[in-house]
Amino acid sequence: MEAIHVGLLGLGTVGSGVVKIIEDHQDKLMHQVGCPVKVKKVLVKNMDKERQVHIEKEVFTTNVDDVIKNPDIDVVIEVMGGVEETRQHLIEALKAKKHVVTANKDLMAVYGTELLSIATENGCDLFYEASVAGGIPILRSLVDGLASDRITKMMGIVNGTTNFILTKMTKLGSAYDEVLKEAQDLGYAEADPTSDVEGLDAARKMAILARLGFSMHVDLEDVKVKGISSVTDDDIGYSKRLGYTMKLIGIAQRENGKIEVAVEPTLLPESHPLAAVNDEYNAVYVYGEAVGETMFYGPGAGSLPTATSVVSDLVGVMKNMRLDVNGRSAVAPQFEKQLKSPEH
Ligand code: NAP
Ligand code: HSE
Repeated sequence: MEAIHVGLLGLGTVGSGVVKIIEDHQDKLMHQVGCPVKVKKVLVKNMDKERQVHIEKEVFTTNVDDVIKNPDIDVVIEVMGGVEETRQHLIEALKAKKHVVTANKDLMAVYGTELLSIATENGCDLFYEASVAGGIPILRSLVDGLASDRITKMMGIVNGTTNFILTKMTKLGSAYDEVLKEAQDLGYAEADPTSDVEGLDAARKMAILARLGFSMHVDLEDVKVKGISSVTDDDIGYSKRLGYTMKLIGIAQRENGKIEVAVEPTLLPESHPLAAVNDEYNAVYVYGEAVGETMFYGPGAGSLPTATSVVSDLVGVMKNMRLDVNGRSAVAPQFEKQLKSPEH
């Protein structure tokens, strides 16, 4: 099989990790799919910026068409962020028969249904594992691993930045603004960290989880959201003295056919397993009627953990290409079917 050519939209925290994994794990990728993977074009905003990874100058472009309409590119990896402009790029890419892998929860939480159906119509894959809980393969676990069960409840820590902030405030007594800056420097926070600290990022992730877990459509507007920006040192101090740990918890539950999704700062007893999830780590509890209680844990943000999910999605696309089943693979069609047929 000839090399698979990928085009990247974005080469920041996640994009650099993607390039690094493609280079460093080329032997593993060859073993998985039987052909090399090559990065053909990379869209950036600023051509002169110093980069975390070495890429030949001619590979860079500031013209998105060099990626999404490039006849030599098989798969577009979207790691630039943003919603409206990015949605247009991905629609064009899918219509040009490019498979798409994205880490963009802002986009998938709002336009996921539309984009997945465009992907299916065009016989393309659209995978988005990295959009929820960074390096934890939670979407595949819901769609494939727990496919036979009825999920009743999901609960977890799905934002790395706020967990990092709350952990440092609790354990080290660090100041909110200082730790937020540290989370930004480490590449955990969004370009505009308001969505992290106000709980919107977690709300988007919970909406995606709820759709996949409960087989029902969830509007982002229906998710109740409260972030951590108003949490004070005193709040943290009192909760510690009472034996509690403050975490930003997302919860999604299905009862009598109705779904409730919410994100809010929550006091957990120190003995609660989620109280021990620290720093940028995430954890998601999934309760299934048959399986009972399962917990998925791992790094929820950062370059290489997130890129692992992105490149694993790329491997999924490549395996489907080898079998000629793109656009019919697990994540997209099942999601579409679930939306049309909400009852189990
Ligand atoms: P980032 O570090 O800010 O990188 C964004 C990249 O996209 C940069 O290379 C930037 O170019 C490029 N870019 C942005 N807007 C562009 C435009 N209009 N035209 C051309 N290039 C553009 O962001 P990131 O942290 O890697 O996040 C990327 C995506 O992954 C986001 O959707 C984010 O929510 C998601 N995500 C991030 C993490 C994480 O831990 N960081 C985890 C999971 C998911 P320049 O470099 O030239 O400025
Ligand atoms: N800003 C996000 C977080 C990145 O802190 O969880 C991972 O989605």
